[in-house]
Amino acid sequence: MIRLKFEGNISEKENLAILAESISDVKKYLSKAEEVEYIEKRLETTSIITVNQLYRSIYIIHFSSISFDYSAKEKLRKTGAELCSLLKKEKLKTIQITGSFHEGMLALTEGLALSAYNFSKYKSAASTIYPEIITLSSEGLKETDILDLENLIEGIYHTRNLVNEPVNFLTAEQFGEEFKSLGKEAGFKVEVFDKQKITDLKMGGLLSVNLGSPNPPTFIVSEYKPVNAINTRPYVLIGKGVVYDTGGLSLKPTPNSMDLMKSDMAGGAAVAGILYAIAKNKLPLYIIGLVPATENRPDGNAMTPGDVIKMYDGTTVEVLNTDAEGRLILADALAYAAQYDPLFVADLATLTGAAARAIGKEGIVYMGTAKQDYKTLLENSGRAVYERLVEFPLWEEYGKQLQSDIADLKNIGSGDAGAITAGKFMQHFVKYDWVHLDIAGSAFLTSEDSYRGKNGTGAGVRLFYDFFKKISQQN
Ligand code: BES
Ligand code: ZN
Ligand code: ZN
Repeated sequence: MIRLKFEGNISEKENLAILAESISDVKKYLSKAEEVEYIEKRLETTSIITVNQLYRSIYIIHFSSISFDYSAKEKLRKTGAELCSLLKKEKLKTIQITGSFHEGMLALTEGLALSAYNFSKYKSAASTIYPEIITLSSEGLKETDILDLENLIEGIYHTRNLVNEPVNFLTAEQFGEEFKSLGKEAGFKVEVFDKQKITDLKMGGLLSVNLGSPNPPTFIVSEYKPVNAINTRPYVLIGKGVVYDTGGLSLKPTPNSMDLMKSDMAGGAAVAGILYAIAKNKLPLYIIGLVPATENRPDGNAMTPGDVIKMYDGTTVEVLNTDAEGRLILADALAYAAQYDPLFVADLATLTGAAARAIGKEGIVYMGTAKQDYKTLLENSGRAVYERLVEFPLWEEYGKQLQSDIADLKNIGSGDAGAITAGKFMQHFVKYDWVHLDIAGSAFLTSEDSYRGKNGTGAGVRLFYDFFKKISQQN
């Protein structure tokens, strides 16, 4: 895990990154006139200027605080990723960051800290991360802002770890165990419903998807309810927890589309990371997390195309494609959420290839019935943290695609608008302010992308942390 620290004084022997508006911000750290001249020439044109001193390296990053908007902030996160590559190359474990513009320093630190992540659990050789410790020093910088960021980064690391875990470790039961240990560490309650309880509750969507799996399903219920919560009706977060999606009997072709499907629980993992960051930072909000978890596999006993199943809320569904399993388990969770009389419910899910094809990895497709206030707030958070949202419509006409000849609904549409028909399916189970986020494009990457890295990205965690932090500050 990476550490962020606050320190009043800047050490003269430690590596140092300076966020500088002009050459005058840098001069006091340089001993030679040639150094000053060298930097002055390059300041406007080079993103990071490295000066190697006797005991340390200095990295100078030029930026302008005039017109500092969300895209300038994103640029600094990306510069943080570049800085991380330089530190990795030199195997530098510690770095100090200074400057006078605190918001910029925090963005740089965020990009740097997220880039330092690696998943080394299964590597035989001992592994270190570079940097291990980031020390921020600047007059007036609030220590609480650093702690806040550190806990958020830690939440994202946990989410990424969970997404990167293969199913031969992370079964639905193990997912429950991981939730429990995160809850214990951060301070939220976790109850894991087992197969018997899920059967008693008649969660037909979750049970049917689980039929082909040798491992039982779980339904993970988390609760964060601090005594100073400003809301009495909770916010509910729901995450898709398909710990492996083979497609079931509607088997995915391999090699290719099945290979990355250990990441089909990224929505559930995001819920874990969000709750972790919120609880560790003690936001005064009452929040419930719900994660239905199972594998989706073929087997003699597996759910079969054409089967009619009965969902938790009593709706009957004709399952015409067992690979459209996410909506089945989420529908049970959405119906279950109603008992909380929630203020607002958001689900996060790697739900459709169609969403990924529509906007790729650059954003999140979302849709929902929530009031415009919630949507605007969420979209603003999307820009602020650069997990940008694009709203898709839930027009009534799309719902017609889900009419079944023999049941209340069928689980697939006729082909077009696949991300929306998945949303329309889930809307059937919703009776409150709701948004659905399809993170299929951004949750798992097959090549490096700046501070988002490769493999599990932690998509959704920074987004909802920002969203809930703003809600907690509004009141
Ligand atoms: N988990 C997949 C969606 C997915 C695809 C996530 C690619 C990440 C990357 C989901 O369960 C699925 O298989 N969806 C089908 C739905 C179809 C059968 C209606 C899809 O998108 O092809
Ligand atoms: Zn599927
Ligand atoms: Zn899936």
